[in-house]
Amino acid sequence: MSANKAKDNKGTTNHTINEDKLDTNVSIDMEAPEFRDFAKSMVDYIAEYLENIRDRRVLADVKPGYLRPLIPDAAPEKPDTWQEVMSDIERVIMPGVTHWHSPKFHAYFPTANSYPAIVADMLSGAIACIGFSWIASPACTELEVVMLDWLGKMIGLPKEFLACSGGKGGGVIQGTASEATLVGLLGAKAKKIQQVKKQHPDWTDDMIVSKLVGYNSAQAHSSVERAGLLGGVKMHSVQADEKNSLRGEALEAAIKEDLEKGLIPFYAVITLGTTNSCAFDRLDECGAVCNKYNVWAHVDAAYAGSAFICPEYRHLMKGIETADSFNFNPHKWMLVNFDCSAMWLKDPTWLVNAFNVDPLYLRHEMQGSAPDYRHWQIPLGRRFRALKLWFVLRLYGVENLQAHIRRHCKFAQEFAALCRADDRFEIVGDVNMGLVCFRLKGANELSENLLKLINGRGNIHMVPSKIRDVYFIRMALCSRFTKSEDMVYSWNEVSAAADEMLKK
Ligand SMILES: Cc1ncc(COP(=O)(O)O)c(C=O)c1O
Repeated sequence: MSANKAKDNKGTTNHTINEDKLDTNVSIDMEAPEFRDFAKSMVDYIAEYLENIRDRRVLADVKPGYLRPLIPDAAPEKPDTWQEVMSDIERVIMPGVTHWHSPKFHAYFPTANSYPAIVADMLSGAIACIGFSWIASPACTELEVVMLDWLGKMIGLPKEFLACSGGKGGGVIQGTASEATLVGLLGAKAKKIQQVKKQHPDWTDDMIVSKLVGYNSAQAHSSVERAGLLGGVKMHSVQADEKNSLRGEALEAAIKEDLEKGLIPFYAVITLGTTNSCAFDRLDECGAVCNKYNVWAHVDAAYAGSAFICPEYRHLMKGIETADSFNFNPHKWMLVNFDCSAMWLKDPTWLVNAFNVDPLYLRHEMQGSAPDYRHWQIPLGRRFRALKLWFVLRLYGVENLQAHIRRHCKFAQEFAALCRADDRFEIVGDVNMGLVCFRLKGANELSENLLKLINGRGNIHMVPSKIRDVYFIRMALCSRFTKSEDMVYSWNEVSAAADEMLKK
């Protein structure tokens, strides 16, 4: 391509293209043979990276701005080679990577990673469709409908949530749990506005919205408060009990208090597996209260929901039949790479009808016979994410996925036992799932300083939390490569940091 620059009489530069020199027959793309070599080399690199991940320093040891001096200030005019790109991964990228899949990574909650999901993402990238409607790529929608049924059955969801039951219910893959909470809130808001209008036809939408109030436990994830802000409604944060569970009685008292103020309760988020301490709200109690007051019950089981594939944990979702929507992230704990947040709705028509903008260019003749998922979510565009679920469910099988969950829960108990055996430390609350909350006995500052030292040493990585002014350190099981020896390693690291600190 050749562009000539000419100045007009006002001094502005005009860019003209010399059409004669624009050769449309010369390939500008990477050709298939080169792609094969590049992709094979990348697959080798990925396998090498993941298999040896435990040997890398888990926490990146760089300062903000480290990357800019390592690459040119502008994109290359002529193409680089793929070999040059490959060689820059170790030089430019890896020094700034925090290795979330290292067995030494114990921060936040896990994010999933598996070879079947990585390969499925390659195929999704190759098909590269945008499955906003059925016709936009029928397989994209249809596989998603069936996968959400498979997954719903695996965790024991009541049939009202499943598309295969032939009712209104069904599942959808959202990007994140935060989106699912917001989507649930918007559905609940649309439903309540319509109900109130039937009773008070003279009330405007604005009048009704100003009275709407949603509920969550004070232990709920910050995305719940954010959903209230984004949805333009009040959220009432209700104190949890001494086990950090939201109880029906406390929820009912909050609802009654708001009704007396003339407010309209419409939505409640019930968390199964809180971020702070993996506590479980009492869905059996809270769901019944929601049903009594005609409040939409949304279940946020972002992390812990994966454990419901193991029947021994399903007692924690007792009362699920009272929920209107349920969400968990296979991309956290079920070996499906980000993003894959599974959400089920008993009656998605509240969403579909409330947010139905229907331009001509998105309509198709089959409308109504299969879901057009664009109506179930906030963005229009959506990737072919069901492939990841399909590959992971088939190539692991339910049994191996259950084993993954059970191993993490066992390793958490092993770490907790090591912690209990050291009388400088205490466990905070119960050890639920793959999370151990622990602290040095005594003032918060001791544990604060200990965590600084642990992360500063860079051998393992953890983050803190605080409940009712008690500061503690969270040890989350994150890696699929974790073995019992890693628990000993991580505990020895904590213990060595405590020795070093207490000596000072
Ligand atoms: C209970 C809970 N809800 C919501 C979220 C947010 O998840 P996402 O990043 O998928 O929005 C988290 C994240 O850890 C969580 O633990």
